[in-house]
Amino acid sequence: MKILLTGVTGQLGHHLQRQLGQQHEIIAPQRTTLDLADTDNIREFVRATQPQLIIHPAAYTAVDKAETDAALAHQINAVAPGILANEAKKLGIGLIHYSTDYVFDGTLRNTDGSLSAYRESDRVNPLNVYGKTKLAGEQAIIASGCEYLIFRTSWVYSLFGKNFLLTMLRLAKERDALRVVNDQWGAPTSAGWLSDATSQIVKQLTSSTDAAHWWKQHTGIYHMTTAGHTSWCGFTEEILRLAQEHGLLERIPGLTGIPSSEYPTPAARPVNSRLDIGLLEQHFGISTPSWQTALARCLSEH
Ligand SMILES: NC(=O)c1ccc[n+]([C@@H]2O[C@H](COP(=O)([O-])OP(=O)(O)OC[C@H]3O[C@@H](n4cnc5c(N)ncnc54)[C@H](OP(=O)(O)O)[C@@H]3O)[C@@H](O)[C@H]2O)c1
Repeated sequence: MKILLTGVTGQLGHHLQRQLGQQHEIIAPQRTTLDLADTDNIREFVRATQPQLIIHPAAYTAVDKAETDAALAHQINAVAPGILANEAKKLGIGLIHYSTDYVFDGTLRNTDGSLSAYRESDRVNPLNVYGKTKLAGEQAIIASGCEYLIFRTSWVYSLFGKNFLLTMLRLAKERDALRVVNDQWGAPTSAGWLSDATSQIVKQLTSSTDAAHWWKQHTGIYHMTTAGHTSWCGFTEEILRLAQEHGLLERIPGLTGIPSSEYPTPAARPVNSRLDIGLLEQHFGISTPSWQTALARCLSEH
């Protein structure tokens, strides 16, 4: 299958290119060839390359910077996915897109007051510019009338690119003590596993005898994270433990959990980023590793 894959210099795009490239023809333009801020460029590129599927992990992902760069974030996260979706609709092909836990405000609770995992149908209410632009991107895709899969994920990391895991590994080498937020909850999700799960779904699509029917059955929004949840501090504790086990760290620095109020950031973040992954498992039969298992797998690939 001829797949247009965006964002190959990013974490998820990098893993998808490696994995899907083994079986498919991948058109993988970088920003210099396909600038998502340029709507004409997007239309012309899709029309010239005539893909059979578009997979779109590229995004404006600088959550704090987006607060003061809202116009560009909106162009890339909201307008560009809408244009890709319109082009997909014209070509009669499907679009796989990625969105975020930050479409929610993090206030969802069970009746006993404990944090509840968000379902796809739960009320969205983003707290920051990044979340608002990503939500607008979802809405533009749905409004286009194309066949789509939108995978909302959370806390993405990899040994490639820029992310929390690599930042913590660097800081752990530089410092004797780390202070990390312990009152925001979510599922750290490796780009490697996201790529695996997406590849399994692409395989289901390509082996179906009736692709149009397949899309009709599956089009929609799905939560795609690893299983379980932790805080950023809990994630760090496991990173440090496993990094030492895998020979990436000689010594483990001290670790103290702090409230978010002691680590103010330009963009507000939801306290509760937990996403219910039942629908993904049910529709696609994807087996989801715990976040600890996915982290161990990622670190073993260094
Ligand atoms: N990272 C997370 O924690 C997280 C959490 C929830 C959801 N997500 C979503 O998951 C998806 C993948 O995220 P990620 O962490 O893999 O992203 P990432 O590593 O930040 O990569 C973003 C990619 O988008 C590209 N891009 C940005 N602006 C562009 C432009 N104007 N034209 C062309 N390309 C452009 C970047 O290219 P350059 O290298 O040229 O900048 C890069 O390849 C995104 O949709 C993101 O919103 C991420």
